[in-house]
Amino acid sequence: MIIGHGGNIHELAHQLACDPKNIVDMSSNMNPLGPPPDLMEHLNTRLESIFALPEADAGRMKTAAAKWLGISANRLLAENGTTQFIYTLPRALKIKQALILAPTYADYADACRMQGVACDYIYTSAAENFTPNITALEQKIAGNDAVFICNPNNPTGRLVPAADLAPLCRRHPKTWFIIDESYLPFVLNSDKESLMHTNLENVLILSSMSKIFRIPGLRVGFLIGHEKLIQKLSDYSMPWGVNSLAQEAVCYLLTQTSATKGFIESTRDFVAAERHRFVEYFRNLPKIRFFPSETDFLLAELKGLTADMVWTEMARHRILIRNCSNFNGLSDNFIRISLKNREENEKAADLLKQIVK
Ligand SMILES: Cc1ncc(COP(=O)(O)O)c(C=O)c1O
Repeated sequence: MIIGHGGNIHELAHQLACDPKNIVDMSSNMNPLGPPPDLMEHLNTRLESIFALPEADAGRMKTAAAKWLGISANRLLAENGTTQFIYTLPRALKIKQALILAPTYADYADACRMQGVACDYIYTSAAENFTPNITALEQKIAGNDAVFICNPNNPTGRLVPAADLAPLCRRHPKTWFIIDESYLPFVLNSDKESLMHTNLENVLILSSMSKIFRIPGLRVGFLIGHEKLIQKLSDYSMPWGVNSLAQEAVCYLLTQTSATKGFIESTRDFVAAERHRFVEYFRNLPKIRFFPSETDFLLAELKGLTADMVWTEMARHRILIRNCSNFNGLSDNFIRISLKNREENEKAADLLKQIVK
């Protein structure tokens, strides 16, 4: 397991001898408006569900999710977070050599390493605002049996439009495309950007409930693909892969259709507005450069300062940001900031401005 994911508020709280509640966690990319209203009240009435085994295949929850997504229930599997799928797929798909669009979430490479799968990388660059180059990516596909693409990407926040991605997948029917759409719900007008409805036989979509509903501790994620493939991959699912409370939460959220749609719409609008405000704060400041992002976090490059220096100074003020120096393809000059509520964003922006000035 790699050490160095975001979100380690416990370690920082220990260092600062404070309660984790007093730390503003801008290092993990959770919905700043979440969890959705009423979820806690609902779960409080369902606590007794932990006294019985959950449904072994999370059938009721999968049916709710399929209806929510507008696909048939035999096109999806549910597990204890998308992490479970990331680590199972290299073995289940018998991948030998994978191509990763980088810099990106480290667990794809970690999962490959764990299963003895060799990885090759195609890098986006700061000089090009980390915009993925589909032609360059396509030229590297030969010799790889799978391609991992995080869309929109963590940590760059860049999106490959479905209009580019779907034809690419169609042109390479013998290659698996594993598309992680965990941050897609944060993107404005993104419903048309999912590859889910293409239903291609070589495409698998990862969709996490952790981020958009801010329930990372419950652990729920979906894998969506063509029915034939999902049938095959179900052989790798263990019983009771999703715990009772997680099933209760997701069933509740995905059957409250209009409330949940409203919540996601508000999230998208809020995140877009805060992203704009945050970046504006730093306009004309040569020591920091923010890259365009479509989602709820921002990647920034520091000039003349290291990520470690900035991380330490922010941490001293109980604001945890992501030091991106351990992302393959970035250096120790990159930080990632996840947007929080207006007040916390302003406080963080003021502090960061003082540090970089
Ligand atoms: C891009 C991406 N995919 C997947 C995950 C894992 O999410 P989960 O296992 O909670 O669904 C993360 C977590 O940070 C992530 O950033």
